Amino acid sequence: MLPAGSLAGRVAVVTGGGTGLGRAMALELGRLDAKVAVLGRRREPLDETVAQLDGDGFAVQADVRDPDAVAAAFDAAEEALGAVTTLVNNAAGNFLVRAEELSPNGWRAVVGIVLDGTFHCSRELGRRVIARTAALREGSGPRERVETAARAPAQPLCGADESAPPAERGGANAQIVNVVATYAWTGGPGTVHSAAAKAGVVNLTRTLAVEWARYGIRVNAIAPGPIDTEETRERLWPTEEIRDQLLRRIPLGRFGREEEIAHACSYLVSDYAGYVTGDVLTVDGGSWLEKGMFGS
Ligand code: COA
Repeated sequence: MLPAGSLAGRVAVVTGGGTGLGRAMALELGRLDAKVAVLGRRREPLDETVAQLDGDGFAVQADVRDPDAVAAAFDAAEEALGAVTTLVNNAAGNFLVRAEELSPNGWRAVVGIVLDGTFHCSRELGRRVIARTAALREGSGPRERVETAARAPAQPLCGADESAPPAERGGANAQIVNVVATYAWTGGPGTVHSAAAKAGVVNLTRTLAVEWARYGIRVNAIAPGPIDTEETRERLWPTEEIRDQLLRRIPLGRFGREEEIAHACSYLVSDYAGYVTGDVLTVDGGSWLEKGMFGS
């Protein structure tokens, strides 16, 4: 667990922040003193998350598939909380289906939320941070000075540098965390739409990490394994038998907890991960490595 105040000065947008892992990540960012806007399609869960936040929060309704709605949501979040420094692309859609039975519209719905949505939100954060970096550049003389500033951590390891102007804090130290899945690289029979889209997001993570490093934007991903929540218990392992079968295939012998994903997210957002970019942090108890061909 990071020390209190670790994320002071951050203003985060968490997509799909009203429920599940999105809510857990939003609450943990807030506990560490980030201001947090939760973005999603349904108002009620967003308001509930904001009510539980420790610090300043904001709920904004938008569908990540709609780039204009995403831009308007970022405007509203910035109006309420200040310049956005941090984005968690968590919004997702998924359902089990055989590829030959998946309709073009079903494919489009999931790829639209996961891949297009991640791009729309990332582009929105990127454009804003780049514009702020450019403004800083104009205001502070030679280009080299600003580029150097963008590459250096703008904040001390713990807590924010309150003396730095907001543009500098946002322009020189911004972060994107994408939520993917290990089937992005193993393939995911039964979830071809989601697996293909998550593979795209892994590539987006690495591409943007390099392209936007010059603006001080770090881009990373988390690949959560089987996390025990009310929803997964209901939808994915509803019986003791399925549960036990699954548990036998998790090397660490237990399901993950929401807070373990939230801690991973906070770490990647924090300056403790100041030299980490373009990476995927797998938090799955070793599940994706377990093949069990000869027993273990
Ligand atoms: N099996 C097969 N097809 C399905 C489906 C299912 N369980 N659920 C949706 N679809 C298809 C629909 O039939 C439709 O295709 P069609 O017009 O050819 O019939 C298409 O997907 C779009 O469905 P719709 O419900 O109109 O889309 P939406 O944009 O409102 O919903 C989804 C998006 C499909 C992802 C929806 O499942 C959803 O919102 N889920 C909640 C979030 C979620 O899945 N979270 C889990 C994250 S791991």
